[in-house]
Amino acid sequence: MKTPLEEQAHVLGEMGLTRFFRRMMAEKPDVLMKNVTVEAVRPGRWIRVEGRWVRNFGSDSFLGLDQHPRVQEALVRGVRQWGTHNGTSRAFSSVAANVEAEQRLAAWLGTEAAVMYPSVSLANMGALPALATRHDVIVADQYAHNSIEEGMRLAKARGVRCAKFAHNDPQDLERTLRALRPYRRAVIALDGVYSMSGQLPPLRQFQHIASLHDGFLYVDDAHGTGVIGEQGRGTVWETLGHYENVVVIGSLSKALSCLGGFAAASRKVVEILQLRSQPLIFGGPVPPPYLSALLAVLDILMSPEYVQLRAALDANVRCFVEGARRLGLVLLGGCVPIVSVLVGPEDTTLQAGRFLFERGYYVQSVVFPAVPHGAGVLRIQINSNHTDDAIHGLVEALAELKRAYPLPEAEANVPSCSPPVLSVTAIPA
Ligand SMILES: Cc1ncc(COP(=O)(O)O)c(C=O)c1O
Repeated sequence: MKTPLEEQAHVLGEMGLTRFFRRMMAEKPDVLMKNVTVEAVRPGRWIRVEGRWVRNFGSDSFLGLDQHPRVQEALVRGVRQWGTHNGTSRAFSSVAANVEAEQRLAAWLGTEAAVMYPSVSLANMGALPALATRHDVIVADQYAHNSIEEGMRLAKARGVRCAKFAHNDPQDLERTLRALRPYRRAVIALDGVYSMSGQLPPLRQFQHIASLHDGFLYVDDAHGTGVIGEQGRGTVWETLGHYENVVVIGSLSKALSCLGGFAAASRKVVEILQLRSQPLIFGGPVPPPYLSALLAVLDILMSPEYVQLRAALDANVRCFVEGARRLGLVLLGGCVPIVSVLVGPEDTTLQAGRFLFERGYYVQSVVFPAVPHGAGVLRIQINSNHTDDAIHGLVEALAELKRAYPLPEAEANVPSCSPPVLSVTAIPA
């Protein structure tokens, strides 16, 4: 006899997206490359999967800092200094490394203060509801990260009215805000870099609209942290040149290759987040060894070595984007280290990922619901430690793919931005 728990699991397995995924797994076990197990890694972004060594184009460690000896040594030193975990919520106590890491993060970004969460998802689920009351509204870009949506759900449960506006569409943002009137304040939530397409938001226009409609910007810059603009401070600094009327959310787990997320803003706003974010009060912190590693990463971000890492990354992005454009592929993004090649139907997208894997290149096949139905993409993450050989080889493999499958053809090879828009100011030695 089935237990109520097993019966429940059966019912849940027959619902909506869960059913869709289970069907795909059952029907296409040979092409579906979800839940890939990486058996081993080697320098130069090699991974072993299914017993074969392939080049990994699916890593968010854009600057290769996961492999940096000083970062690795700092992590080990952190274990010796603090143990593996301090085992308490920050509402009770913090290790000194946490306080130092937050001060140094804020100093690097140029904000008054910063507060760290164990992940960006928890930052969005903690900070968004903390910033609104039932007199306020939250509006989010329709393609903002799922954790923004989760944060909105939590806010909604406490009486905050929430809505979405069309992707990267300032006019629709204005329409949406007008329709929600009357309200006291509007939180306008969006991504600094869209993680599935590498596209950037029209931040200046959004900022202007926020100022006209009693609003402020809440920018999840998880994929901009460390790789956009001067010293890698991210999309907001690069585009606006200030942080006024903005809350920036950043990642410590992607380009920074540590663990966690953060919110950065004025001291007053950060204090409110510390007092009102439930995950900070009822949950645990980033484990201290990762704080030691983060301090080593911040040293690198502020040093001349960063300029070299960024130059290598930018050159790799440029080389890949130019190669892929020459093939006439439809590219989304192309300005940052996430570049997506449009494929279209779900089936073809999955087959295309497998095709590249068979030729020695792992990229992520992204299909609905992460992207709209019928708009599947190959998501390619370029890293500074990819070799020329790997970049050219991937372009070659894409050329072969294009001969084998009916991929959408770019109308004109006009870049949506000249890659990369990432400006680096040389830091004196
Ligand atoms: C824009 C954005 N926000 C949040 C997240 C989630 O980050 P985390 O893994 O730290 O929860 C991601 C992950 O890729 C992301 O792209």
